[in-house]
Amino acid sequence: MLRIESMHVDLAGHTVLRHVDLQLEAGQTVAVVGRNGAGKTTLLRSIMGLAPARTGRLLLDGEDITRKPAHRRAADGFGYAPEDRVLLPTLSVMQNIVLPCEVLRVPRHEIRQRIDAVLVSLPQLEPMLARSGAALSGGQGKIVALARALMVGVRFVLLDEPFQGLAPALARQYGDALRALRVSHPQLCVIVTESNASLLDAVQSRTLHIERGAVREETGGAVRASEPEPSASHHG
Ligand SMILES: Nc1ncnc2c1ncn2[C@@H]1O[C@H](COP(=O)(O)OP(=O)(O)O)[C@@H](O)[C@H]1O
Ligand SMILES: [Mg+2]
Repeated sequence: MLRIESMHVDLAGHTVLRHVDLQLEAGQTVAVVGRNGAGKTTLLRSIMGLAPARTGRLLLDGEDITRKPAHRRAADGFGYAPEDRVLLPTLSVMQNIVLPCEVLRVPRHEIRQRIDAVLVSLPQLEPMLARSGAALSGGQGKIVALARALMVGVRFVLLDEPFQGLAPALARQYGDALRALRVSHPQLCVIVTESNASLLDAVQSRTLHIERGAVREETGGAVRASEPEPSASHHG
C-alpha cells in the first residue's frame, strides 16, 4: 500500500535517514523503536511530506507521492499526532478534532460517521467533547490528539511517542485504545514510535528498529537488515 524506496533524508546538511526501504500494509500496527535522535520523528515527517527526501521514492498504491505537499497527503488519508500535540485552547474538544476535516472539506455526514467510528475505540472521548481544549490532563490530551489524527487518517495514522509521559494506568488505557482500533478500523495502518519498547504494551503486529537513521525489521526476535549491506550499495 505505502512503499518507501531507498529514501535518504537530510536535515541541515546531515543525513538523518539513510536508505530506508519499507512496505507498509493496511491493517498493520507497526512499532518504530529507537533511541532519542535515531530518526523516528524524521521518518514520520518524511511520510507526511514535511521532511523532503533527498533521494528515494514514496509510493502510495503505486503512485509516486514523493513530491506531493503535506496538505495534500492529508486528503490521501494520512493522520499525524506529533510529539508536541497542540490542541487549540479556545476551541472545544469537538471543534479541535473536527477542524482538520473541515479544512479538507469532508462532508458533514461523513464527519459524523468518522466521529462515531472513533468513539467505538475511544469511548472515554465522549464526555470530553464539549469541554475546552485547555481543560484536559496530559493523558486526556493524548486521547484527543489520537482522535484528531484518526478523523483525517482514514488509511494511516502516525503517532509520535504517544506513550511518553503517561502514567502506567493511562498507558494501559492508551494501549487498549490502539488494540480496539484493530476492530473499529480494521484496514487502518497505525505507525507508532517509541524510544522505550516496553512502554508499547504489545500493541504492535510488527516492529522496526531505527538506529542512526537506518531502519531494520525485527523478525521473530532476530533483527534483520532491511536494506542492502554497505558493500552491496554505496551511497554518498
Ligand atoms: N531541524 C533539524 N535540523 C538538523 N538536524 C535535526 C533537525 N531535527 C532533527 N535533527 C537531527 O536528526 C536526528 C534525528 O532526529 P529525530 O528524527 O528527531 O529523532 P528521534 O525522533 O528518533 O528522537 C538527530 O540527530 C537530530 O539531532
Ligand atoms: Mg522524536
